[in-house]
Amino acid sequence: MAKQKRGQWGSKMGFLLAVIGSAVGLGNIWRYPYMLYKNGGGAFLIPYFTAILVAGIPVLILEYGFGHKFRGSTPMSFARAHKGLEWIGWIPTFAAFVIMTFYSVILGWAVNYFVYAFDFSWGENTKEFFFKDFLNISEGAFTLGGFQFDIMVTVIVVWLINWFVTYKGVSGGIEKLNKVLIPTLLILMAVVVVKGVTLPGATKGLNVLFTPKWERLADISVWRDAFGQVFFSLSLALAAIITYASYLPKKTDLNNSAMITAFANCGFEFFAAIGIFGILGFMATSQGVDVTEVAGGGVGLAFVVFPKVFLTMGGIGKVLGVIFFLAIITAGLTSSVSLLEAFSSSVIDKTGKSRKKIVTITSIVCLSISLLYVTGAGLYILDIVDHFLNSYIVIGTGMLEAITIGWIIRADMIRKHNNAISIVKVGKWWNLVIKFIAPLVLGGILVLSIIDEFKVNYGDYPTNALLIYGVGTIVAVLVLSFITDRLPWRKGAIEGFATQGSDYKGEKEEG
Ligand code: PHE
Repeated sequence: MAKQKRGQWGSKMGFLLAVIGSAVGLGNIWRYPYMLYKNGGGAFLIPYFTAILVAGIPVLILEYGFGHKFRGSTPMSFARAHKGLEWIGWIPTFAAFVIMTFYSVILGWAVNYFVYAFDFSWGENTKEFFFKDFLNISEGAFTLGGFQFDIMVTVIVVWLINWFVTYKGVSGGIEKLNKVLIPTLLILMAVVVVKGVTLPGATKGLNVLFTPKWERLADISVWRDAFGQVFFSLSLALAAIITYASYLPKKTDLNNSAMITAFANCGFEFFAAIGIFGILGFMATSQGVDVTEVAGGGVGLAFVVFPKVFLTMGGIGKVLGVIFFLAIITAGLTSSVSLLEAFSSSVIDKTGKSRKKIVTITSIVCLSISLLYVTGAGLYILDIVDHFLNSYIVIGTGMLEAITIGWIIRADMIRKHNNAISIVKVGKWWNLVIKFIAPLVLGGILVLSIIDEFKVNYGDYPTNALLIYGVGTIVAVLVLSFITDRLPWRKGAIEGFATQGSDYKGEKEEG
């Protein structure tokens, strides 16, 4: 059990690119537009911006400060801060593991579609192509059907990249990957957005995006989706930010970095949505129908509607298609690597085993589970697991973090820690948000959406499918967290910290 030196970022720029890389992902390009669309277009922006202000940014500042102060992966930071709270650190860690199992599959689809874009392999009927030929979707969540060979290949490729980059370590792998991919992504998306908004009929799509359906605001699911989206998109409550912050040198402007991350991520998301709705408007105009008729809900948007749009455009559509799917791959890889790092670092911290060993084992186990989503029932299972994890585990973890760090570990200690090394200071208002507002709002959403869950079956799936895949995943994450909490730490991981703890300049012992 050799004590290893913890990784560290090579530069502040490298770190910023890596957190932005974690935040900007499938959530921004694939998930956000359909969330917006599903939840009443422009009206969604109100809960969305509320979520950014009352939970997104405050919790981001919290996770930055917490990971930085206790210099550990999520469970290690919790264990160091307070012995009894380690389990809270394992919940987002195991949730990150589960997310990885399907995140890599969607990324795999994008790799397939990237290749298909070169010759429009999807043909005229993109819907039938996606569901039948590509996914070979079965009748229900319990009929697995066979493995889809093409998808299996790309999922393995995605895993090889995840594994290689994370195996190489923080500055040797993750930072390098982000330095190349983030600027690339920006260029790719700029092409998509500029092309999107200048297409004939684009305004028709933008009108849908910006015309709010106010009545939707009365629906709790809209608020739940907004908070879930903001957390997912900012990589919050999934162990990634705390881990990344733990690799920062002692003196780093945390508040400033948190603001840059939030701004870059939400700006990118919004920017992408404008391009995407512009393209939908073009599609609707060229077919002489309403935008509502072309925009399919859910996953369909990126893999059914877009391929159709590219086909309609002809030659230039091939170029745009290749660029669009490459952008999804670029964005997704930097996020999936952060999920793998969040999980692996926790196990490395706990066991003291080598990074190479843990990353390799994690990748193999995770890839094996990913194969479940490569079956004919994959899409159903993915949809259910995504819904339950994001609605309950992520929002619930955000609430638990705010309560425990706010009240037990003390919000003010984190605030002072951040302020001591940051130029822009966080005021006392932040303590109030962390201690009262965030827990109340997140708790409220949690309770109301649980009640809602009993009214209608999510996605019209049969109850036992929701129980087994959805509730089952939640229970598994919780049980694993409690069990792992009981296992011993490698020597010196927790006790040794107290003595070398708060030695930041200007930081006094606070209560
Ligand atoms: N933020 C990423 C996205 O938007 C997903 C993610 C969540 C990555 C949590 C890491 C941790 O796609």
